[in-house]
Amino acid sequence: MQRLITCLLILGFVPPCLCVRWSVRTQNKTYNVIDYGAHGDGKLDDSRAFVSAWKDTCATQGRPTLLIPQNGVFLLKGIALNGPCNATNVNIKLQGKIVAPTKDEWLKVITSNLILFSNVNGLSIDGSGGSIEGNGSSWWQCISCGRPTILRFKFCNDLTARNLNITNSPKAHIRINNCENATFSNISIHSPGDSANTDGIDIFTSKNILIQDSTIHCGDDCIAISGGSSHINATGIACGPGHGISIGSLGRDESYETVEEVYVKNCSFTNTTNGARIKTAPGGSGYARNITFEDITLMQAQNPIIIDQYYPKKNSTTKALNVSDVTFRGFNGTSATDEAITLNCSLPGCFNIVLDDIDIVSSESGKPVSCSCNNAHGTVTSTHPNCSLSSSIMSPSHIYKKSNM
Ligand SMILES: *[C@@H]1O[C@H](CO)[C@@H](O)[C@H](O)[C@H]1NC(C)=O
Ligand SMILES: *[C@@H]1O[C@H](CO)[C@@H](O)[C@H](O)[C@H]1NC(C)=O
Ligand SMILES: *[C@@H]1O[C@H](CO)[C@@H](O)[C@H](O)[C@H]1NC(C)=O
Ligand SMILES: *[C@@H]1O[C@H](CO)[C@@H](O)[C@H](O)[C@H]1NC(C)=O
Ligand SMILES: *[C@@H]1O[C@H](CO)[C@@H](O)[C@H](O)[C@H]1NC(C)=O
Ligand SMILES: *[C@@H]1O[C@H](CO)[C@@H](O)[C@H](O)[C@H]1NC(C)=O
Ligand SMILES: *[C@@H]1O[C@H](CO)[C@@H](O)[C@H](O)[C@H]1NC(C)=O
Ligand SMILES: *[C@@H]1O[C@H](CO)[C@@H](O)[C@H](O)[C@H]1NC(C)=O
Ligand SMILES: *[C@@H]1O[C@H](CO)[C@@H](O)[C@H](O)[C@H]1NC(C)=O
Ligand SMILES: *[C@@H]1O[C@H](CO)[C@@H](O)[C@H](O)[C@H]1NC(C)=O
Ligand SMILES: *[C@@H]1O[C@H](CO)[C@@H](O)[C@H](O)[C@H]1NC(C)=O
Ligand SMILES: *[C@@H]1O[C@H](CO)[C@@H](O)[C@H](O)[C@H]1NC(C)=O
Repeated sequence: MQRLITCLLILGFVPPCLCVRWSVRTQNKTYNVIDYGAHGDGKLDDSRAFVSAWKDTCATQGRPTLLIPQNGVFLLKGIALNGPCNATNVNIKLQGKIVAPTKDEWLKVITSNLILFSNVNGLSIDGSGGSIEGNGSSWWQCISCGRPTILRFKFCNDLTARNLNITNSPKAHIRINNCENATFSNISIHSPGDSANTDGIDIFTSKNILIQDSTIHCGDDCIAISGGSSHINATGIACGPGHGISIGSLGRDESYETVEEVYVKNCSFTNTTNGARIKTAPGGSGYARNITFEDITLMQAQNPIIIDQYYPKKNSTTKALNVSDVTFRGFNGTSATDEAITLNCSLPGCFNIVLDDIDIVSSESGKPVSCSCNNAHGTVTSTHPNCSLSSSIMSPSHIYKKSNM
């Protein structure tokens, strides 16, 4: 009797405890796409195998891993990997190579992204040893085609992506929207400088995003930070060829858009068509404020520092959204254009622009460089070429109050 009671007690109380430990131990399951029928031969379409493997990974509680193994070449034609997941964290280990087909072989129904992640929280992608080849050359001629993005993240909070190598996207390489708390590290992006609209990383409607220690060579903005974004940092980015690191464009089609709290630090621009850029369209409203570009090295960059409130039109008198509290500090190196600093603001002007510790010379030895300012207010210290900004006559807060009314 005593024994039976002890036995029942053990059965009744100990197993749940063991059970929890046991499940924690087995929860980090690995799902290999090969086990779902992926061929990995670079010829047969592996899209369905990836989606099936994703479904099981996503359905598993705990911290499962989706494995794309080394030595395989996996042809995908456009897949959507959707959440929400039961998993608290989904890990993806990309050790093999993913390739996109030529233009005509993409799935006709999903052509907007090679791989879309949506509504997945706690996603962590490690691309060590792997790569993604976008095979974009067949798309680049067709500017008006709805060209796909390679990696798209939407509604993904707590995202980590590291050690990714992405080449030759048909259009933008990575797009991020409606995400909060994401870190991208050691991302390598390569496309030709003359491939149209191949942005490196586009961010919109997102918050607390860090992009660090990455190399971006492409045919458009290395990083573009667009409407609805705040607390976006880019550090240790080697950009070029490309169109620089841009805020915007903002306010196109007379829209209301905002960007604030952006820190771009310790980045280089090599043979880019722009460096640190803010572009806003005439007729738009909203603001771009509290933006800092700091510790920037320039090698033959065109338009190293540029605020353009007449983008893309050159010829407008309409007012654009408010640009204020923008700091350019610690710029070094060479400009490929005579005009090294361009602050082209529309009325009533840009406010609290700070230029400090800037030394830009021409990439052609002996040639002078200049600064051009329109309606820019703020302070200039230790800056070559010299700029004369008007000191603020209206405080930004005054402008915000006015525009908020
Ligand atoms: C499961 O994964 C988590 C996070 O990756 C890790 O901390 C934990 O040790 C793993 N558990 C086992 C049993 O491997
Ligand atoms: C979560 O787990 C339950 C129970 O196993 C399952 O029915 C459901 O499909 C899973 N949800 C997802 C999103 O995979
Ligand atoms: C990539 O595109 C080239 C032509 O542009 C084509 O020959 C090749 O087969 C494509 N690769 C794949 C995996 O489809
Ligand atoms: C950076 O990512 C590449 C893959 O793109 C990888 O080979 C390399 O080891 C990574 N570097 C570090 C320091 O992790
Ligand atoms: C990226 O992958 C391509 C093959 O697709 C390879 O040629 C290149 O060396 C890789 N780059 C890095 C930085 O690992
Ligand atoms: C983002 O991180 C912050 C700080 O850790 C946290 O307070 C916030 O809840 C996170 N946001 C989301 C959507 O997870
Ligand atoms: C600069 O970029 C252009 C366009 O990609 C390219 O043709 C040119 O060779 C590059 N020049 C240098 C010096 O890297
Ligand atoms: C961005 O940099 C600022 C200033 O260094 C820092 O306060 C902030 O926490 C950083 N944010 C992210 C998301 O890395
Ligand atoms: C600047 O970025 C480069 C490239 O990622 C990195 O190696 C270096 O340590 C960074 N320097 C500082 C001071 O953060
Ligand atoms: C934005 O910049 C202004 C002026 O430099 C500063 O007073 C304010 O504190 C900044 N806002 C934040 C949230 O840092
Ligand atoms: C600017 O050049 C000086 C002298 O060559 C160097 O010490 C400093 O680190 C450079 N700063 C940047 C931001 O590149
Ligand atoms: C530029 O503005 C002038 C004067 O307002 C106008 O005559 C001209 O048509 C405009 N050009 C363009 C390309 O909009």
